[in-house]
Amino acid sequence: MNDVIELPVIGRVEEDELQRRLQEKKPGQKGVWIQTLGCQMNEHDSEIILGMLSQMGYVEVATPVEADLILYNTCSVRENPERRVYGQLHMLRQLKERNPDLIIGICGCMVQQKAELERIRQSLEHVDLVFGTHNIHRLPELLHKVRVTGERVIEVWHEEGDVVEGLPVQREGKLKAYVTIIYGCNEFCTYCIVPYVRGKERSRAMEQILAECRSLGEQGYKEIMLLGQNVNAYGNDLPGGENFARLLDEVNQVPGIERIRFTSPHPKHFTDDVVEVMARAEKVCEHVHLPVQAGSDRTLRRMGRRYTREQYLRLVEKMRAAIPDLAITTDIIVGFPGETDEDFMETIRLVEEVEFDGAFMFIYSPRIGTPATRLKEQVPEDVKRDRIYHLIEVQNRISRKKNEEWVGRTVEVLVEGVSHKDPSKLSGRSRQNKLVVFAGGQELIGKTVDVRVVEAQTWSLSGELVG
Ligand code: SAH
Ligand code: SF4
Ligand code: F3S
Repeated sequence: MNDVIELPVIGRVEEDELQRRLQEKKPGQKGVWIQTLGCQMNEHDSEIILGMLSQMGYVEVATPVEADLILYNTCSVRENPERRVYGQLHMLRQLKERNPDLIIGICGCMVQQKAELERIRQSLEHVDLVFGTHNIHRLPELLHKVRVTGERVIEVWHEEGDVVEGLPVQREGKLKAYVTIIYGCNEFCTYCIVPYVRGKERSRAMEQILAECRSLGEQGYKEIMLLGQNVNAYGNDLPGGENFARLLDEVNQVPGIERIRFTSPHPKHFTDDVVEVMARAEKVCEHVHLPVQAGSDRTLRRMGRRYTREQYLRLVEKMRAAIPDLAITTDIIVGFPGETDEDFMETIRLVEEVEFDGAFMFIYSPRIGTPATRLKEQVPEDVKRDRIYHLIEVQNRISRKKNEEWVGRTVEVLVEGVSHKDPSKLSGRSRQNKLVVFAGGQELIGKTVDVRVVEAQTWSLSGELVG
């Protein structure tokens, strides 16, 4: 009987199959297999990591078995993604035993937490390389050191340095590009680990951002997603009076770019001039992801969100009045410590009143070091679970209703490729960021076309090409 090895993502592999795949590797070429958890900022960091590795001669491979370097770019926003990383890294032990030259690395938000870093150091002795969110630019040097010495290298900075410009990027697609405009977060919402693992707010110089956007336009990219944990705090830390509204206006002038999106804005920083630019600048899409987190003032206050339910509702009203056909999505947490049934029902009522197009809904997950973990009255697990099911049910009904409002109308779709669900069809996104599936030839990929919506589902629209 052959040994069977459990591997993350690809599952069970037999010993001789493993040997065969190892022997198939091209001589001289090094393979990297990267797993990215968490938000778009982490996805973009992985694009930069792959950019640097590509300059070192690495190519991306599809499975950990083919890899000479395995990297986990981690997230610590909730417990689940953390648990997954430990589970998978333990499994990789077997692979390392069979291939001692394999280098295993871990980076991202998890390693910025001192307790997790210690746990990695102690319990994952087969991990060779550890670096944090503030020193990803150091990767080439650190990796070189591991390769030359064969020793374990751990370098994590606990202070954010200056913004590093000019790093190579290997972007995932050819149509849509992430552009970071601000790093870190100063909000310190009481449940959130992000400010501790990503540092304080640091905006990139506007000229650097615009140069990157112009270059993307020249390379044929059609859509830019401006990134920041607190994206509309852009410029607050810069001397020259730069701000988010001005930046949007400038990116709107970039030739070749057809669509501009951004994530995530904080409701408190959503100034009138941003609403005004969204209404006026033709490339800025009619979609805003505006995390509300909770519907009761008591919970919002205890979360440290610094707006009231009423202020949030007024902002939504103002945006809808200024921007026709605006889609609004959100993030919501249920089961924050001390959340009563009545507080939760306030969230349900807010969701029904706003009628979000979509929502990411989370169960509160205590994060060590954040103030909310010290609050008494943690909500029992079964109550949290009942609340999230209730909320998901309400939101799904609303998402479907919002999509049904599009039936019979024509939407502009940026065609991204063949539909994953139905390979005989194409799919893309409307300006409202709705997934639209329709029949059409592959020559349309990368183009912007008009599609008449004929049917609505909860998470997508089906339509027919117009003209
Ligand atoms: N900077 C963004 C997103 C931060 S993380 C923003 O402020 O909107 C993405 C989402 O994860 C948050 O909006 C929040 O809804 C959720 N989240 C953050 N910390 C959490 C925690 N401890 N438990 C559960 N969900 C959490
Ligand atoms: Fe976390 Fe709040 Fe900052 Fe968002 S704004 S990253 S939820 S601290
Ligand atoms: Fe997670 Fe870090 Fe993003 S904690 S949500 S990957 S900033």
